Amino acid sequence: MIEAEWWDYEDAEELAEAVAGDVGFIIESALDARGQCLIALPGGQTPLPIYEKLAKARIDWKKVMIVPTDDRIVAMTDPLSNAAMLARIFLPKGARVIPFISDKAPDHKAAGRAADARLQELPWPPDLVWLGMGNDGHTASIFAGPDLDEALDAPKARRAVGVLPDPLPAEAPVARVTLTRAAILSARTLTVVVTGKDKKKLLERAIKDGAGSPLPIGRVLADAEQAIDIHWCA
Ligand code: 6PG
Repeated sequence: MIEAEWWDYEDAEELAEAVAGDVGFIIESALDARGQCLIALPGGQTPLPIYEKLAKARIDWKKVMIVPTDDRIVAMTDPLSNAAMLARIFLPKGARVIPFISDKAPDHKAAGRAADARLQELPWPPDLVWLGMGNDGHTASIFAGPDLDEALDAPKARRAVGVLPDPLPAEAPVARVTLTRAAILSARTLTVVVTGKDKKKLLERAIKDGAGSPLPIGRVLADAEQAIDIHWCA
């Protein structure tokens, strides 16, 4: 049974204020408890205004490590790079943004192994994994396609795998690296942020279907042992 709490907002501004506040609180609590903090943040368009707000929070950013939940296998100079987007916003604040893409890897599987090695060096688990969701029900870069089962069923110790979505998503038609389901679910806290009525319907359905869901996000969340906060506005 997925324990999900929905937080609905009037508009994008209110959502951004609330989510930036929540994430800031998660970071502060981690810093108080452990003196450092690791968070995994998604790419896509929805989080951008929230990141801009969060970056303004008076946090000791030097103690904060940020990894993407997933990234496109492209150079850091490419506009599709999630790590570059996170670096642009959070590096000037002093946070450590840790890219895990090696665009020189011979294929996406090798890129996945290299990213996993990189993530194994970090203090685990993440204090927060924040997920977005695509219109096709993918989350992080866990997409339908030949690598779906590996991303969902990789052993607990495996933190990242390479993924070739099929079909390739129009907004970024390239191979990806993603946190595995186990890595996502190892997080101390799990947050999902989506906007729009269609995505709300899709996510409600995925949660209802749980492990039997045809959608990657339903399959991922079905195994969550922690409560999940879902933030939404139309
Ligand atoms: C990426 C993501 C991805 C994203 C969804 C939603 O593609 O890099 O991490 O999982 O969160 O595609 O994207 P939007 O917020 O742009 O709808």
